[in-house]
Parts: sequence; C-alpha cells; structure tokens
Amino acid sequence: MSTNLLKGKVAIVTGASAGIGAATANLLAAQGARVALVARRRERLTALCEEIAAAGGEAAAFAADVADEAQAGTTVAAVIAHFGQVDILVNNAGIIRPGGIVGADAADWRDTFDINLLGPMYWSRAVLPGMLERGAGHIVTVSSNAAKGPGAPTNNAYAASKHAITAFCGGLRREVGPQGVRVTIVEPGATHTEIAETIAEPGARDAMREHLYNSTAMQAGDIAAAICYALAQHPRVNVDEIWLTPTK
Ligand SMILES: NC(=O)c1ccc[n+]([C@@H]2O[C@H](COP(=O)([O-])OP(=O)(O)OC[C@H]3O[C@@H](n4cnc5c(N)ncnc54)[C@H](OP(=O)(O)O)[C@@H]3O)[C@@H](O)[C@H]2O)c1
Repeated sequence: MSTNLLKGKVAIVTGASAGIGAATANLLAAQGARVALVARRRERLTALCEEIAAAGGEAAAFAADVADEAQAGTTVAAVIAHFGQVDILVNNAGIIRPGGIVGADAADWRDTFDINLLGPMYWSRAVLPGMLERGAGHIVTVSSNAAKGPGAPTNNAYAASKHAITAFCGGLRREVGPQGVRVTIVEPGATHTEIAETIAEPGARDAMREHLYNSTAMQAGDIAAAICYALAQHPRVNVDEIWLTPTK
C-alpha cells in the first residue's frame, strides 16, 4: 500500500459520526486526505473535526441526511466549494431495522432502502460529474456480510438492501470504470460499533449487542484499514470487493 497516493485527496465519508465511518475518516485524515464528514448529528461531526485537526489532519463537517435526494446535491456542491473537488466517496451510512416479513412495518423497509441503497445512489450520482470530467475518482460502498448469504430471516430488509448494493456497485463499475472511476464494495461481518444501540426493540437490540460486543467481533478500525487499502492502490488497480469476517 502506498499511503502517499491519498495525500491531498478530497474524500467524503458518509456516516462519519460513529463506528466504521468515524474510523475511516480518522484513518484517511491520518494518511493526508482532506475529509468531508457527513451524517445527521452535527455536534459529533464537529467534535471529530476538532479531533482530526488536533492530530494534524484536515476535515470539515457537513450535516446531511443521506436519504434526502436534494441534500446529496447541495452537500456535494458545498464540499466542492470548500475543498475544490471530490476525489473519493465512501458510502458508509447505514441502518438496520431487524425483523422478518410477517408482521413487519413497511415504513422500516422504506427507511432501510432509502438510507442503505438510495443514499449511495444519490451520493454517487452527485460526485460523478467531476470524477468523469477528470477521468479519475473512487467510490467505496460499505455493504455487509449479509449481502453474501441466502437472505436473512431475522433481518430481511437489511439483507435485501445489502444484496441490492452488490448489483448497484457491479453495474456502476461497468458504467464508469472504463472512464477511470473505480468502484469498490466492502462487506464486513460483525464489527463492534454503535449500530446495536440504534435498534428500538429490546429483544433484537440485546441479540445484536451479544453479536457485536464480544472479543471475537472486528473493530471499526479494521474495516477502515480495508477501505483505505482499496483507496490507496494505484489508479490502474480496482479492488472490486473486500469481504471481512471475524477469525473466530
Ligand atoms: N457494525 C457491523 O457489524 C456491520 C456489519 C456489516 C456492515 N455494517 C455496515 O457498516 C456501515 C456503518 O455501520 P456502523 O456499524 O458503523 O453503524 P453505526 O455505529 O450505527 O454508525 C452509522 C452511521 O450512519 C449514519 N447514518 C445513519 N442514517 C443516516 C442518514 N439517514 N443520513 C446520514 N447518516 C446516517 C449515522 O449518523 P447519524 O445518526 O449522525 O446520522 C452513523 O454515523 C453501515 O452501512 C452498516 O450496514 C456494519
């Protein structure tokens, strides 16, 4: 890995207020990238900006909801006004609303697809004109181990949204790869982050805590390292897919 290929690059990281996104923003900044932090909780983004600046890095906060189509356009425009261009997009923001199909609330399915699938589509479309003009750029989307299986009886909409990300990334790679824009999908398994705390139903929350808060789960920094590995390759190299699972 050649870290200097990231130096000075402008990277948008969505879902940068917690977990894998915050770790990725930190690591990118440590490698010399200028990082635009995106999530809804502005105060968390501001705190991370200060942390990155204190460590000698450069970051700026852009509070936005990735599921809002208009905000994708206005926020990317604001990032370009601030940093000049966008070289890298890390589509990381995501949610999980556990449950099968029987008795489920379709509003949860819509939220899941709006954030996990349409979000990456809106943000990719917004950054692509500049990347295509320059004939260079890289879009990394954080999917899940749930995209690799046959579907998930207890997380149906989540797994379905992540399976859809596979087709989205594959199609986008074939669309823009020939013009110099790289597309990578990263599929982590159990990773210790705050995602369990976002689950409202106590039983499902406890099950997720048990799954993620144990000594065998991966850490957010492990996934950030994989993302940065893909980003730091020579522009002639497209790392198509990185699938990470806990060793034990
Ligand atoms: N942890 C795991 O075991 C695991 C495994 C496989 C895949 N993943 C994937 O990894 C990604 C990151 O998850 P994580 O585990 O780091 O979760 P997390 O700790 O809950 O962080 C999720 C991030 O997404 C942001 N987000 C959620 N909805 C958003 C919206 N509508 N607009 C903007 N930002 C939004 C949150 O910020 P705000 O709330 O401030 O908006 C937060 O920064 C997700 O795509 C997830 O599916 C995680």
